[in-house]
Amino acid sequence: MRKVIFDTDPGQDDAVAILAALGSPEEIEVLGLVAVAGNIPLHHTANNALRLVELAGRADIPVHAGADRPFTRRLVTAEHVHGTTGLDGPNLPQPTTKLREGHGADFLIDTVRAHPARSVTIAALGPLTNVALALLKAPDIAERLQGIVLMGGAYFEVGNITPTAEFNIYVDPEAAAVVFASGTDITVLPLDVTHAMRATPARIDAFRRIGNKAGAAVTAMLTFSETFDLKKYGWDGAPLHDPTVTAFLIRPELFEGRRINVEIETSSSLTRGMTVADYWGVTDRPKNAFFVRSGDADGFFALLAERIARLP
Ligand code: BDR
Ligand code: CA
Repeated sequence: MRKVIFDTDPGQDDAVAILAALGSPEEIEVLGLVAVAGNIPLHHTANNALRLVELAGRADIPVHAGADRPFTRRLVTAEHVHGTTGLDGPNLPQPTTKLREGHGADFLIDTVRAHPARSVTIAALGPLTNVALALLKAPDIAERLQGIVLMGGAYFEVGNITPTAEFNIYVDPEAAAVVFASGTDITVLPLDVTHAMRATPARIDAFRRIGNKAGAAVTAMLTFSETFDLKKYGWDGAPLHDPTVTAFLIRPELFEGRRINVEIETSSSLTRGMTVADYWGVTDRPKNAFFVRSGDADGFFALLAERIARLP
């Protein structure tokens, strides 16, 4: 059983990742959600996080708001992908519960310190601003964490928001650089993996056929996020990014990768936010991340449907 805090900017794919975790109580204990500005501004990501725990019947899980902007940059959002609320599609009710008091970065610090060493994992599904703030404010948590499993970056697939950068890293590259330099155990689920996880009509239909509220919501979310991505890529289904983090936490054997050095480009305007991944070991820079390169897409979608089926 892994104790996990989700740091997130929901976002349809964040939502599926969180719901799948809440449907996996044997493997994942969700200690809390921390919202970060990313796909949409913070007031929407925080509100959506509340809507998700309520949808799953888990309003007992604390939800905190974190950073409303990157360290030094203007916030870049992605309403063109996720809609103005970030969760356009399923028409989820407005939450009846409230955000907990306190900044999300402090919740990260306090929660990691309150649990035994190496027992808490941060699942990071958005820009890394909160995680970096926590690491800078409380450097002791780098050693204390079990690790950080994050969706971000790319190697062969290079970029989705610019030709060379993936969205989460691009939005706050300075924060990403802090995280990759922190010395904690980092696992990266990059576009190389997520671009192979395509929500085809048959895979979306499997969520519809579950017949519960969560399955209907996931169906509507994935149908919505297809609209932009299918035009962009011309593929048979839109890539499903963030749930790879949940799937990795539950069934790492679905994925393959290796430990390498990853550095973040922060100074170039052309390649801002690029993950410079030394996949072939051509430098002697220290290996600071487990970089996943591929995954079993059928196994991934089957796992998600199985876990969403366990929710209300
Ligand atoms: C990442 O960017 C966001 O739009 C998604 O939620 C995901 O976390 C993919 O590049
Ligand atoms: Ca996200």
